[in-house]
Amino acid sequence: MYCKAGDNLKEDPDQKTAAKATFNADLVKLDFPVFQANPDLIYFDNASTTQKPASVIETIENYYRKNCANAGRASYLWSSQLEAALEDTRAAVAAFLSVPEKSDQVVFTGGATDSLNTVTMAWALANLQDGDEVLLCPKDHKSAVLPWYHCKELLAAMGKHIKIRHFDIHEVGDYDLKSIKSQVSDKTRVLAMAHVHHVYGLDMEVSEIREIVGTDVIISLDASQSVGHTKVDANALPVDFISFSGHKMFAAPGTGVLYAGDRVKGQLQPLRLGGKSKAVIENDSLKINSNSVCEILESGTQNIPGILSLKPAIEYINKIGLENIEAHVSKLTVDLWQKLMPLPNIEFAPGIGICACDKGWGIISFRFKGISSSDLGFALDEEKIFVRTGDHCVWNKAEAEPDFIRVSMHAYNSPDDVEQFVQVLADIVDS
Ligand SMILES: Cc1ncc(COP(=O)(O)O)c(C=O)c1O
Repeated sequence: MYCKAGDNLKEDPDQKTAAKATFNADLVKLDFPVFQANPDLIYFDNASTTQKPASVIETIENYYRKNCANAGRASYLWSSQLEAALEDTRAAVAAFLSVPEKSDQVVFTGGATDSLNTVTMAWALANLQDGDEVLLCPKDHKSAVLPWYHCKELLAAMGKHIKIRHFDIHEVGDYDLKSIKSQVSDKTRVLAMAHVHHVYGLDMEVSEIREIVGTDVIISLDASQSVGHTKVDANALPVDFISFSGHKMFAAPGTGVLYAGDRVKGQLQPLRLGGKSKAVIENDSLKINSNSVCEILESGTQNIPGILSLKPAIEYINKIGLENIEAHVSKLTVDLWQKLMPLPNIEFAPGIGICACDKGWGIISFRFKGISSSDLGFALDEEKIFVRTGDHCVWNKAEAEPDFIRVSMHAYNSPDDVEQFVQVLADIVDS
């Protein structure tokens, strides 16, 4: 029997400060069965996917073992209960994004990639006009970049020609605001950006960027690496779309969220129609009988157990406290960076390693002169230390450029993990 999520953290009436004082990554680890099965595992690939707490696993297992049915399709109780549970999950996501009254603007998707493609296919295809321009950073994740090129080609086939302009990453790892200023014009309709970069690990200045581009430009925010690490507040962030995956915030793979803000919610076209769609054919034409974003964009049988896992994942984050996760992971990042710095021949990617900020989001990327990072990744794997190597899903990475090792940490990573990792790494590069 798994222990219940959060049980290993002490409750205290003086909640916030006490939670901070008692936050202990080793206790958090006890809530994740994978670490009981693999006590020596140092899991440093959280930007790729997180491990799952017992409560998330139980929710998925319960669906398959105890009440597997389709949701809302039949008159039997399980079906209506599952439909209600999905809506309850939607409400939990809306509250998590600080927009409890806007749950119909929360769309369940198959992941951040699906959400980001939904922005281009359901919004941009219907709303961009000939001559419009899109601003994006080619060093962002491919899932935030390629859909815009796909959209450009589809629009061209419809006789509308849009231009995609690039802005840069500053050498320290955040967006180069000067390059955004130089690219924005009265033709700019959209800016696509990450909240936290998946290789460089810095948070981007959303408010400053909004100021530069002005109020009219639609901003699509990829929050894949910030969600579960810091507050993603759909009211406070001056953006129009927010996309993220469930599996990077302790929920199941194949789940994601797209939040559509107030000014775009009435501009969305259906992307997939089928069972569940509120659509009819009248006079040989399609008529959509709904103004609700989630009803327009969701159809067919969804990943029911996956979506249901979002709620225990959110409850788990709330239980251990987002502000505790943020403070803990920030401390770990700075600690790791300070321990890595003295290693001979280390070269940091842009990000905390170069900008020396006193806060991080758990991500540090680096390499060693003359040593293949992929080979290092294999050597670390032999020591049960999992890191990411390879192209990091960046589309325009130069073929000749050696790859980086990316360490990405989360709530269950401890100062001991960092200590051990650096020792093992130092031994490998020394040998
Ligand atoms: C910044 C960013 N955006 C998008 C994605 C795509 O997420 P998914 O593969 O869950 O669709 C990732 C995944 O690594 C990411 O890091």
